[in-house]
Amino acid sequence: MVLSLSSHNVIQYLQDAGLCSSEDGASDKSELPGSSKNNFDLLVTLADNRKLLVKQERNVKNNDAPPHELFQEWLFHQLLQQFPVLGNISAMPTAVNYAPLVVHFDEENSILVRNYLSEYQELAIFYHNNEIFPQEIASAIGTTLAGLHRATFNRREYKDFMATAPQGEFRYGFYNPAQGVGSIEPEIFGTVPTDALKFYVLYQQYESLESAIADLASNWNPCCLTHNNLKLNNILVHSRWEKLDNCLVRLIDWSACSWGDPAFDLGTLLASYLGIWLKSLVVDPTIDLEESLHLALTPLEILQPSIIALIRAYINAFPMILSYRSDFISRVIQFAGLALIHEIQEMITGSKYFNNADICMLKVAKSLLTIPEQAVLTIFGISESEILNPVAKIHQLPQPVKEAQLIRIYYEKTRLRGC
Ligand SMILES: Nc1ncnc2c1ncn2[C@@H]1O[C@H](COP(=O)(O)OP(=O)(O)OP(=O)(O)O)[C@@H](O)[C@H]1O
Ligand SMILES: [Mg+2]
Repeated sequence: MVLSLSSHNVIQYLQDAGLCSSEDGASDKSELPGSSKNNFDLLVTLADNRKLLVKQERNVKNNDAPPHELFQEWLFHQLLQQFPVLGNISAMPTAVNYAPLVVHFDEENSILVRNYLSEYQELAIFYHNNEIFPQEIASAIGTTLAGLHRATFNRREYKDFMATAPQGEFRYGFYNPAQGVGSIEPEIFGTVPTDALKFYVLYQQYESLESAIADLASNWNPCCLTHNNLKLNNILVHSRWEKLDNCLVRLIDWSACSWGDPAFDLGTLLASYLGIWLKSLVVDPTIDLEESLHLALTPLEILQPSIIALIRAYINAFPMILSYRSDFISRVIQFAGLALIHEIQEMITGSKYFNNADICMLKVAKSLLTIPEQAVLTIFGISESEILNPVAKIHQLPQPVKEAQLIRIYYEKTRLRGC
């Protein structure tokens, strides 16, 4: 019988698993604030102040979804055990930034235990609370992610390992995340708020959007290990980040990791940064989109140094990607557009929430997907060759595809509110 984990039996469970002794006891057991409802998460503080995060997957999904999230995190942990070179810190100083914190996995009961890092904070919260966007942090993320992509790039042995399925299952292939909204059935009227129907109406009206997503799906090129859920709440930043050269950041929550397209990870991350801007828009029916974008409380301008630092650090650590994909930056921009659409969809189906700000987000997402070359200029504030110039001085980079006569998709320059 499958054990249902609760604050009453968690200590006994940890003792039976050999993760703590009866003397250790537990000084505190609390549910993890801010975690999603898919899993049951408990943060256990042991007597010696060690903290363990105990997760149990409650909604094992139906057959069309990627199976067993916690199994995927365990699989990634196993990969690093099996191929120590991947986690070799002296050869790759950033390896520690992605090393999983797993200490135990119980497949039968879908329970995973992680070491909890008390001295780290979720990056989304760090940005929200401090309203600063230090370039060092974005650079550390870019270098770390590139390190993982580069180390696994086109390596058959890692790909085969990641194709391992949970017991009794067979994996036919890797999940292609470049999916649109899908067919809209009449049941939608009963399941989403009336306001949200506007999202589906607009989405269907944009024919170019469907074809851009179809193009992205057919060009999806799984070639390395990808995190697949690289949002700012799945990155931790050290409380003393200013004083550290390494271990500034940790990538966590490997439950969606798989063999995938590197542009997808960078695109998801870029969308998460853009979300800070787009969620701060001042939206009113009397203000048009362009004006709303001007009036953002967190202007894009403030985020641009970080997103440029992120891309530059990534390319600097993995310049070879541009030889394989001359359109890499455009693909990143397109995946960012797709991630924004998925975020709106999750908000509608999960929180049953949709407002005018989400319409702005959809319009921006559409531009990123359908005219990515022009969107580069808007999103980064500089052209592709300007982004790559400092990196090109160090590495021999292929010339970007021609970018003559590109115009910004919205406005010349982001302005501070009221300026
Ligand atoms: N090892 C850890 N150290 C410090 N904080 C952590 C750690 N693991 C998770 N957290 C914090 O808990 C939050 C939720 O954890 P996690 O991302 O694993 O679950 P989730 O996204 O809620 O999804 P689910 O519970 O469905 O797996 C993270 O965003 C982070 O703030
Ligand atoms: Mg998470």
